[in-house]
Amino acid sequence: MELIHSVSDLRARLKAEPDIGFVPTMGNLHAGHIDLTRLARGRVGQSGVVVVSIFVNRLQFGPSEDFDQYPRTLKDDCEKCRQAGVDVVFAPDEHELYPEPQQYSIEPPEIQHILEGAVRPGHFRGVATVVMKLFNMVQPSVAVFGKKDYQQCRVLDNMVRQLNLPIQMILADTVRAKDGLALSSRNGFLSASERLEAPQLQRTLSAIKSQLQAGPQNAGAIAKLEAQAIADLQSRGWQPDYITVRRRLDLLPPTFSGGVADKSLVILAAARLGMPRLLDNLEVSL
Ligand code: PAF
Repeated sequence: MELIHSVSDLRARLKAEPDIGFVPTMGNLHAGHIDLTRLARGRVGQSGVVVVSIFVNRLQFGPSEDFDQYPRTLKDDCEKCRQAGVDVVFAPDEHELYPEPQQYSIEPPEIQHILEGAVRPGHFRGVATVVMKLFNMVQPSVAVFGKKDYQQCRVLDNMVRQLNLPIQMILADTVRAKDGLALSSRNGFLSASERLEAPQLQRTLSAIKSQLQAGPQNAGAIAKLEAQAIADLQSRGWQPDYITVRRRLDLLPPTFSGGVADKSLVILAAARLGMPRLLDNLEVSL
């Protein structure tokens, strides 16, 4: 496995590679990331190259967010990549990725302002901009992202499609701990008691899914389920930002005519448990 820090070295290494599978990350890799590298390998095969980027992207963090605290564990990450059979780790520093102030950006449409975007203004502009830069540096044929960051997947998948980037997007299922907690780099910030409580988020989503499938399926019933879930989590010490049922395609509320008109839905949740803010989601087909 090669560790590359500069864009010029990366381009030189990848110049003659026809089939590149790419997994963009911010490091602090866990089993979920490793799963994404396996999916990338599955697509490009042994003759292709799997590249993982590790870069904590300041552009996607708000001024009061955890950019400085975000765990940086490059040595461990490289070892995990080596064991997983990754070919290249690209780990630029900030000056390499942003040698001058980044005045051009990718401005996603309205979806960037809802849900995570409402809580974290500018977040998806920062994500889309850095991912476009990384795509231009790596020039992958395949890119793999985890569906734990569901809204991010939607924003990036739409970007690739609408801008005709020649990249096949793979959106991978969330990898979970045995107790159901979605794996995340931020789980490391949970105290022992918070870690015990954390799978409750997934249980809450599963309960909404069962009740939704059992019916009734209309705007009032869904609003009641969302409000009940928020109240339940609050009573257990959580501070939810949102728990909401949305259409998978554009993450807008489902439309109704008689019963639920949209059948492909996703329940999205973001909630603080102590300091850490956890995200999770569950797809529902009606
Ligand atoms: O999901 C992440 O880790 C980041 O948002 C990404 C896609 C690597 C962009 O910085």
